[in-house]
Amino acid sequence: MNQDDEEVQATLQRIGVPTAQRHAFLCTGPECCTTAEGEGTWNALKAQLKAAGVPVLRSKAACLRVCNRGPWLLVYPEGTWYPEVTPERCARIVAEHLVGGRPVEEWAVARHALKPQG
Ligand code: FES
Repeated sequence: MNQDDEEVQATLQRIGVPTAQRHAFLCTGPECCTTAEGEGTWNALKAQLKAAGVPVLRSKAACLRVCNRGPWLLVYPEGTWYPEVTPERCARIVAEHLVGGRPVEEWAVARHALKPQG
């Protein structure tokens, strides 16, 4: 392993890749919501995940290709798509889905876990 590989491995360790149980992608606009709305939810998601201390990776997405009714939150491995995720809605999704393991079914508009063939 060269030094670059060691740095990458250290970064992956630091951000929690080896122990992650879920990955949450949040679109912060600008087509599905305003940038201010998206950033507000992003900051809430970061703070709520940090407070919960759960092994969930988070990524800010520039676009999840739906482009209305955002901000969109997409959670894998379940493949749960949540529209209109305000900071308040985010708190419930974090508590029930990302901590509790039960998607908030009444807010989910699509569920599609990825199952690669082969
Ligand atoms: S800009 Fe959010 S889904 Fe396209």
